[in-house]
Amino acid sequence: MGATLAINNNKDRIQVNLKLSSLTTEEVGPANDLATILQGYTSSTLSAGDAHLAFATDVDRGLHCRPRRLDCKYLYDQRGSELFEAICDLPEYYLTRTETQILTKVAEEIAAETGPLTLVELGAGTSRKTQLLLDAYCAIESQPDYIAVDVSRSALDKGRRMIGETLPTVRFHPLCASYQQAMPIFSETGKTIVVFLGSTIGNFSEQEFNVFFHQVADNLTMGDYVLLGVDLHKNVETLEAAYNDSAGVTQCFTRNLFSRINRELGASIDLNQVEHLACYNEAAHQIEICVRFLESQEIFIEPLNARHRIEAGERINTEISRKFTLDGLASRLAAFGFKTRKVFSDPDNLFALLLLKRQETHLHLE
Ligand SMILES: C[S@@+](CC[C@H](N)C(=O)[O-])C[C@H]1O[C@@H](n2cnc3c(N)ncnc32)[C@H](O)[C@@H]1O
Repeated sequence: MGATLAINNNKDRIQVNLKLSSLTTEEVGPANDLATILQGYTSSTLSAGDAHLAFATDVDRGLHCRPRRLDCKYLYDQRGSELFEAICDLPEYYLTRTETQILTKVAEEIAAETGPLTLVELGAGTSRKTQLLLDAYCAIESQPDYIAVDVSRSALDKGRRMIGETLPTVRFHPLCASYQQAMPIFSETGKTIVVFLGSTIGNFSEQEFNVFFHQVADNLTMGDYVLLGVDLHKNVETLEAAYNDSAGVTQCFTRNLFSRINRELGASIDLNQVEHLACYNEAAHQIEICVRFLESQEIFIEPLNARHRIEAGERINTEISRKFTLDGLASRLAAFGFKTRKVFSDPDNLFALLLLKRQETHLHLE
């Protein structure tokens, strides 16, 4: 899987770099005409037809795997993004609340440490928490550039409206793209901070974590920053409650992926027979989310004319959420060329924000 990922990423990168290299410095302007640069990006990302086929192909491939699994990025269509927003407000979902609390306290300190720069947020969603950070950058520069990257166009639209109202001096650049498609932009943004909040890093397996940081490091320049939000080890009850809320919103979020397969790929999965399960795997330090089929059903993928029989009791994995300890994380990140400049946490050590700086030492993993 690492190899495939690397090949795909190279392809993305070449495609986007070709676009960028067709713009001369004069055309782009000496400062940062990011809007022009991003236009090139937008036109080089997948067309709606390609994206539909990619969804069908990824679902088909995931259902062929054992154990069966689906890529968690497909959880976030418009409905999925709305449900995720609702999850962030749940009493059991301590993650958003705690990260907001930390950011409220330390946003100014982060801006003071880095100085003026371009913010590039990966998996920005609706940029709710990022407003706190942007507010701090507005105090040290007149018109900070903010590139919000996400696969969910509806979330980006909502973020743009919100930031436009609350922080009108921020130059908001939405980029509807995957992390890998967006990364080559780092070389075009001058001094940069890559913001990756919400414990989204926890969705990556160990191998995906390594590939991700290798790529981020590769695309950043010495002196650039990363702000990383990580969820920390804690008791199983708190963790499992966060992903099994009493209002059932997380169940709706997981089921929506199957509803999306029905809507977009012509399947007719009976959602009442699809049960959401979220359990903490203590050995692997990760929440594992899947669905269990209560009765045997077929998943038909119309664009590919493919059929998968799922037996009663069978599970399909939809997401993991890994939990970290601060010991060891700094040295792992150092291997990718990141020095941990600051670690911010809440009084109960539920969650942490790490401010990393790109250094010279960089191990090449390929
Ligand atoms: C866990 S949510 C976090 C949202 C927000 N950053 C926060 O902290 O609340 C993950 C976000 O990443 C986006 N996302 C998931 N996989 C992605 C991918 N491969 N490329 C780009 N965005 C992705 C989703 O659409 C979603 O908005």
